[in-house]
Amino acid sequence: MTELFSPRQRRDLIDRGFNRRDFARLATLLAAGSALPFYNEATMAQGLSAGPRIPADAVKINANENPMGPCPEAVDAIQKLVPQGGRYLYQETFTFRDAMAAVEGLPADHIAPFGGSSDPLHRVILAFCGPGKSFVVADPGYEAGSRAAEFIGARTIKVPLRKDWSHDVRAMAAADPNAGVIYVCNPNNPTGSVTSIDEIEYLVANKPKGSIVLLDEAYIHFARTTEPGTPMVAAGKDVIILRTFSKLYGMAGLRAGAALGRPDLLEKIRGYSAGALPVTGMVGAIVSLKAKGLVESRRKLITGIRDETVRWLEKKGFDVIPSEANMMMIDARRNGNDVARAMLGEKVAIGRTWPALPNHIRVSIGTAEDMAKFRAAFGRVMNV
Ligand SMILES: Cc1ncc(COP(=O)(O)O)c(C=O)c1O
Repeated sequence: MTELFSPRQRRDLIDRGFNRRDFARLATLLAAGSALPFYNEATMAQGLSAGPRIPADAVKINANENPMGPCPEAVDAIQKLVPQGGRYLYQETFTFRDAMAAVEGLPADHIAPFGGSSDPLHRVILAFCGPGKSFVVADPGYEAGSRAAEFIGARTIKVPLRKDWSHDVRAMAAADPNAGVIYVCNPNNPTGSVTSIDEIEYLVANKPKGSIVLLDEAYIHFARTTEPGTPMVAAGKDVIILRTFSKLYGMAGLRAGAALGRPDLLEKIRGYSAGALPVTGMVGAIVSLKAKGLVESRRKLITGIRDETVRWLEKKGFDVIPSEANMMMIDARRNGNDVARAMLGEKVAIGRTWPALPNHIRVSIGTAEDMAKFRAAFGRVMNV
């Protein structure tokens, strides 16, 4: 298995505190990639909130998916491409990279296409963390990075969100002089809360030498009061941004995403990558990027449904963490997992709780009809 790594990669792994016995474990992470059973949103959502299997006719607002699916232009382009699916069609990946570069205002060599963002997320942990290089993450935060860090023997340092639910960038910058990756999810999963770009710039300017900031912008298209970190990438900072087409673009099952970063940083994760990408995902992403007004219209629709649901919850006396994403956390004032189980009995699959907030449950935003069913079921379960 060790021949999977070049001599340079092996030296780098040893520098980060791995020993040769760890190499096989790392190779497992590489080979399984984002398919490892405990690593993606859908499996975490199912495993923790639902316990038993979700009935086929249940409302599924548990995994921050977008029930609208791909935009009609993407559906059309994908359908047209399917008969050619016997080919690798690498050109589609290059076209996707160039389209992304044009939209983001970055050179093409600053974009690394992937099948979603879970894959590069894990590869970043593998490339920059290790027994001597920790992973710093907000609490509550998206768990996939911590699980990958744990799997390779890197320490995870959890830094509580501030009272306003933004990342505590000062505490994160000071958390460990030997940090490998400082992970900022903006807007944050599970809270939907945002961190200002000024704060993120502070973190990038004040992080320990040798570390990188991993800026996960899975939900950035929904945000109103913060901005993307792409100018930091353009300026050559130690930042890798993750983007995905699984959320606003409605392509979670089709798989498209990208890592944005300085070519030397991308080279470190590309060195751990292999294989062709799904052409259906690539072509869907290309067309979605070109669909005029798609981001604005979907943001408006989805956040409108969210805000309507929040108003109803508040009228019923529940606090909701202010969200700028397609999810929200509701203070159920009792064990959140019990509420999730009771909701599943009503055929509404909602999200999970986080240990830091055991009475808060995460609920993703579905269609207006989904949310009407959610309100009715929640009213019955909570007796309101
Ligand atoms: C913050 C965050 N990052 C990354 C992902 C991974 O998604 P995907 O691999 O579908 O891009 C998710 C999924 O929900 C997420 O919430």
